[in-house]
Amino acid sequence: MRSCLTRCQCIGRSLCPLLALPVIWLLRIAWPPSFVFRTERLAAGALRPAASGPLRILHASDFHLNQGRLAVNRLRRVVAAARERGADLAVLTGDFELPTPAARRAEALELLSELCRLMPVYACLGNHDYKVDHQELISDLRQAGVRLLVNEAVTVTVNSQELRLAGVGDFWKSDLAPEKCLSSKDVAEAWSMPTLLLVHNPDAILLRLRKYAWTVAFSGHAHGGQFRMPFTNWYPLAPIRHNRLARPGLHELAPGQTLCESAGVGNFLGIRINSPADAVFLSIDGPKPMH
Ligand SMILES: [Fe+2]
Repeated sequence: MRSCLTRCQCIGRSLCPLLALPVIWLLRIAWPPSFVFRTERLAAGALRPAASGPLRILHASDFHLNQGRLAVNRLRRVVAAARERGADLAVLTGDFELPTPAARRAEALELLSELCRLMPVYACLGNHDYKVDHQELISDLRQAGVRLLVNEAVTVTVNSQELRLAGVGDFWKSDLAPEKCLSSKDVAEAWSMPTLLLVHNPDAILLRLRKYAWTVAFSGHAHGGQFRMPFTNWYPLAPIRHNRLARPGLHELAPGQTLCESAGVGNFLGIRINSPADAVFLSIDGPKPMH
């Protein structure tokens, strides 16, 4: 009897780690890391015309800095990663929602200033940036050094690569005026240099921006739905019409037109299940060396 019990205990002990593995795996799905840095890569030919040298872009979105201390701490992590990893420029795609308390607002703006001292920072606005402090928010961001593009485009040279950076106003807030900063696809000069597009809501691309000349678009807004149905790419809570665009990462929307979608740095109402917040380091390769 005693030897039988000992044998059972031995079998039980050896099975425990095997039984624990699926439990740990299920827990990882239910409680994944709440914030991740994603690395994405595009070939030189993904730009039109093709990139003349390598480019490294930090893309961060949806900070929601008025949603408590966690939001400001996440921005601090983004700035620290920018300092450690480096990038040629940063693009921020809206929903800053700067804090209302003066001390926390100053702290958030100082972090954005620090990012601007590390690299050129371009940004567009999101739907949460059109509240009562709309004008003050614009002025504060610009004072911090953020080059805000609201239906505006600028030409810049980064790593000897000429780029056009265009940013549009928010789609939900009826401030989208792409005709002010983008050219039609049919205009040959529009393709004289690659155009990077900053647009908060990716729905706007499919509904309003397909006919314009741009080569890589950067968006957020969907927050990865803050909940992803396990084993699927379905985001039932994502506030967008085209649910597939809620998937964080790269989406080829048309030949030569790629969307880089971020799940956002912050949260709305603080819930994230199986859909971590993120910031993205996008590398665009230089041309292949001739042999
Ligand atoms: Fe947002």
